[in-house]
Amino acid sequence: MSNNLDAFVKNLQDQIFDETRAVYGDIAFQRWLKPLYMGAIDNPDGYGRVTGSCGDTIQIFLKFENNKVKKALFETNGCMSSTVCGSFAAELSLEKSPDEISDITGESILKKIGGLPEEDQHCAFLSASALHTALDDYMIKEAKRVGA
Ligand code: FES
Repeated sequence: MSNNLDAFVKNLQDQIFDETRAVYGDIAFQRWLKPLYMGAIDNPDGYGRVTGSCGDTIQIFLKFENNKVKKALFETNGCMSSTVCGSFAAELSLEKSPDEISDITGESILKKIGGLPEEDQHCAFLSASALHTALDDYMIKEAKRVGA
């Protein structure tokens, strides 16, 4: 009986995973299973928090060293795509200067993932926006520090 239930659950999970991979692509699927760079940084040099019209919030935390991102983490309360996009936004910012971070857009996040279904593409733009907000926070703090 229990074996039957285990087999049923496993079958169902495999089916959901297959369907998810087919809709979102393998890169997004793998990142969803293993959401790298998820978490928060205490006292970040740059912090961005953006809530989209969908109601989901993405937060990005940056630590800089020699004006380049040394550590980047994200958190979200949103959907699978916001997790995937937040993770890639953090990854793309690593070792980047402020100018290079400015060049990271929703399009570049989508390109890195290999695309998302149209209704999920805004998650990439929300992630880019959270990243740019974190960069703005860093730039303001830096300006104050240098001017102090
Ligand atoms: Fe809003 Fe994904 S549905 S961030």
